[in-house]
Amino acid sequence: MRTYAKGSYHYAKACCLQQICTENLRSKSVQKAGQIITNDKILVYAQNLCRKGAEMEKVILTGDRPTGRLHVGHFAGSVRERVTLQNSGIYDKIFIMIADAQALTDNAENPEKIRQNIVEVALDYLSCGLDPEKSTLFIQSMLPELAELSFYYMNLVTVSRLQRNPTVKSEIKQRNFETSIPVGFFTYPISQAADITAFQATTVPVGEDQLPMIEQTREIVRKFNEVYGDTLTEPTAMLSENAACLRLPGTDGKAKMSKSLGNCIYLADTEEECRQKIMSMYTDPNHIRVEDPGQVAGNPVFLYLDAFSRSEHFTEFLPEYQGLDELKEHYMRGGLGDVKVKKFLNKIIQSELAPIRANRKVWEKDIASVYDILNKGSEKAREAASKTVDDVKRAMRINYFEDVALIKAHAQKYANGMK
Ligand code: TRP
Repeated sequence: MRTYAKGSYHYAKACCLQQICTENLRSKSVQKAGQIITNDKILVYAQNLCRKGAEMEKVILTGDRPTGRLHVGHFAGSVRERVTLQNSGIYDKIFIMIADAQALTDNAENPEKIRQNIVEVALDYLSCGLDPEKSTLFIQSMLPELAELSFYYMNLVTVSRLQRNPTVKSEIKQRNFETSIPVGFFTYPISQAADITAFQATTVPVGEDQLPMIEQTREIVRKFNEVYGDTLTEPTAMLSENAACLRLPGTDGKAKMSKSLGNCIYLADTEEECRQKIMSMYTDPNHIRVEDPGQVAGNPVFLYLDAFSRSEHFTEFLPEYQGLDELKEHYMRGGLGDVKVKKFLNKIIQSELAPIRANRKVWEKDIASVYDILNKGSEKAREAASKTVDDVKRAMRINYFEDVALIKAHAQKYANGMK
């Protein structure tokens, strides 16, 4: 065997040939499927070996549906984390997607809503510190490759498996779809698997509600690799380590922040809007007088403090307390008023949001650049996704025109007069 640089394509190809000779492949999927080993097959394995050579590549893919501006729940649950991951320098590639096509799966009659909110989400991303030099920001519908992958993955998923997806289940209930579930909506976990695998993402930072999507993606990857040969990367979900960040309630204490309930603090809210929302937050309804003992469990004000407060906030804004535990104890004991706690929370949230708000003002003056970032990002993302589509088609052996052996074999077959 000739020597090739380790990790190079030729090295991988040579290893692969050797592997075939040692029966490794023959005994596994190749013969099981009754296929002959063709050059094409070698190519698939070689490419996969190549990828394994570069296995340590760490790729992030995540995103949001553009159905409205982002709120502090998005920020605490994932956007803040993405900025940290971006700036950590640990990741080789980071793709952040505005999932307009997914948003359309339950907004088919209202594309204008999606159209208006793409730039809002982009402004929120940029204002929070996602940097287009480090993270590729793109629009889902600009990548037809994602639809193409979904089309092939659909064959690997059963209807009953989709019906069991807990997130889809609860969303169907929430939206009162009952028996009139749009097919596109029902199958969006498959398209989400396409989003993730198109970039061979290793890591998907998301909120807790997205875990069933990642699990379904992992199943699709395993199934694909089992049927067609090792091609796709199995991703892992990354959740915030702070439990309070996973499920930030609305300001009214309802479990979910939602635009229609009017219980969100938006990243783009003015200082005054934000202050008013915090000062009128729902707290413990039985904590009527300052002296009354109060409950912190399930109390939104304290849940927000769990998600946002750090020790330096105490030093700066509330030095009479050592930290959150002491504040909580005082509240539970009685003698600590809601107004004081809310004022503290307001100071914290304002200090988090002030720089974001200021950045937004700057970006808002340059909307053309925001669109340009999305356009360029989409082009770059498309290049990555189309490489995966090529790999997928090759693995599935539906790359007919690349397949010299196929054409030759067929030419021979007919030349010999066989039917
Ligand atoms: N489902 C996500 C949401 O509702 C958006 C999304 C679409 C996504 N495709 C994704 C998130 C891929 C992570 C990875 O917010």
